[in-house]
Amino acid sequence: MPCTVIAGAFWGDEGKGKIVSYLALKDKLDFCVRTGSVNAAHTIWYQGKRYALHMVPGGFVHEKCRLLVAPGANVEVRQLLSEVEETGVKTRIGVDNQASIIEEKHALQDKSSAHLKGLGTTGRGIGPAIEERVRRTAKLAKDIPELKPYLTDVATEVNDAIDGKKNVLLEGTQGLQLSLFHGTYPYVTGRDTSASAICSEAGVGPTRVNDVLIVLKSFITRVGTGPLPGELTKEEAIRRGWFETATGTGRDRRSAPFNFELARKAASINGATQGAVTKLDSVYSQCKGAKTFDQLTTEAKQFITEIEKQTGIPVTLVGTGPEALDIIDRRK
Ligand code: IMP
Ligand code: MG
Repeated sequence: MPCTVIAGAFWGDEGKGKIVSYLALKDKLDFCVRTGSVNAAHTIWYQGKRYALHMVPGGFVHEKCRLLVAPGANVEVRQLLSEVEETGVKTRIGVDNQASIIEEKHALQDKSSAHLKGLGTTGRGIGPAIEERVRRTAKLAKDIPELKPYLTDVATEVNDAIDGKKNVLLEGTQGLQLSLFHGTYPYVTGRDTSASAICSEAGVGPTRVNDVLIVLKSFITRVGTGPLPGELTKEEAIRRGWFETATGTGRDRRSAPFNFELARKAASINGATQGAVTKLDSVYSQCKGAKTFDQLTTEAKQFITEIEKQTGIPVTLVGTGPEALDIIDRRK
């Protein structure tokens, strides 16, 4: 902190939601800015309840945190309003005037396009909505009466907050391998997902960021089509306890062992200063619920040390269970 960017290292679903919720509680975040759109589902376990958030920033768990939806984000109005209700954040959420709107027609276009189907999109209309924005025919948040109570200028709020030394977190979505520029094109999402793009969507310049924290899951998963190095069969994934289904679409997630080359690329292109390793307990089961590094097994410690060696960044946070506070915090 004060200004931290959170970016996914692989194909999304690294556990960014968990890391954001932990930082919100632990560092008493003042501002949390959500980028991206409804294709992403950030899972947050808090006080025994599970939230799958497509629009509301993960920082909602800290009651004093101001929640903002970036001008570069794409808003699905019904989804946003239902999550605002579910999380009870009416009085502290703001949506940028210039965030663009995803409509039903975009989801229909997404689902009926053979090309997009072939890429295994989430079917939420992301590509078609971004196309409209690029054509400059998209509706913006300021055009929608239901959003009137929430409208704000996010870039001004966030830059003022940084000037005032507040704790600000910019919450990225998906992961570097789904980036339109740096990922496994054409099997990618409709936008850049790297740390620079997260800043750009929020309206924060690169010199104003103090930390870039990349989130690395202890094994790799991907939904949809496209390459996945070291991919395991579903049977093997089940045997290892790595088989997952997607939070947003319910599809099977494909899985593979951790990949150091991809981790290095994520550290490099994101300009990462720190890493968070999640789901360590899924690979090293004796580590479940560990709260200190000393409680980890030798093998698990070696895994973390190897990530640090190969990426050149310190692993400051280690996830050992689903709840926001199941974490080893190694920050000074
Ligand atoms: P789209 O973003 O819906 O256009 O889908 C493009 C690709 O990105 C597909 O492979 C999706 O499965 C993948 N994708 C999009 N959002 C997420 C996410 O939040 N987690 C994992 N994969 C995603
Ligand atoms: Mg997800």
